[in-house]
Amino acid sequence: MYAQPAPAVKITVPDLQARKQRGEKIVSITAYDAAIAARADEAGVDLVLVGDSLGMVVQGHPSTLPVTMDAMVYHTACVARGLRRPLLVADLPFMSYRREDLALANAARLLAEGGAAMVKLEGADWACAIIHALKRHDVPVCAHLGLTPQAVHRLGGYKVQGRDEASAARLRADARAVQDVGADLLVLECVPAALAADITRDLAIPTIGIGAGAACDGQVLVVNDLLGITQGKRPRFSKDFLAGTHSVLDAISAYAAAVRSGEFPAPEHTY
Ligand code: KIV
Repeated sequence: MYAQPAPAVKITVPDLQARKQRGEKIVSITAYDAAIAARADEAGVDLVLVGDSLGMVVQGHPSTLPVTMDAMVYHTACVARGLRRPLLVADLPFMSYRREDLALANAARLLAEGGAAMVKLEGADWACAIIHALKRHDVPVCAHLGLTPQAVHRLGGYKVQGRDEASAARLRADARAVQDVGADLLVLECVPAALAADITRDLAIPTIGIGAGAACDGQVLVVNDLLGITQGKRPRFSKDFLAGTHSVLDAISAYAAAVRSGEFPAPEHTY
């Protein structure tokens, strides 16, 4: 009675690096609550991201910009309570990491109060000093390049990045730069598949793609897209894995299997 499940072996930051070396795909989804986190764990997902996409898919905002640190800490702690095995990554929201002291204090909240093992932040250039500072203070970092939703106003919308040679060269250099200052992982969002493949080959750290083609070392999807409950138009890079299955667990398991076999993303999901 009231038996507790056996403790699962947690996936660690060095495990991700080892996966890249062994050529094993990293399966990731977003989650914002304990119930989805527990299904992701059961389905064998490796990495769960509490994305600031929660501003759009949970809170109903038109962008991620209104998401606060308090909201990120709250949802990260909810997700942590549902997880045993996957690595937990949490986003630093808009303007929460522009200065070193701010970034360190806010990352500490995500790790200490939220239970995350890694933080994610968008950008290169000015963000390199922040990544370096976080790493010096033992905070693992996932960088995020390509379509960076916190820069939606500068980018002029949610558009594919790196299509022309100048911006592709910039992205290649930025990817190198974030790795060189200590990023452990790199999310590439909405970039041409050939460019993401080049960057993945060039880097020692794993790349996780969303709309970046099948050559990335892993894939991430926003869970609402994966379950077909996105409001408005479904992004081209996503797929409704609930269609044709009978439960949320089956849908996430089907996604995990498709990523591991290389079936997802297919050419129709890439740019
Ligand atoms: O906020 C988020 O969910 C993300 C993923 C789309 C990678 O950054």
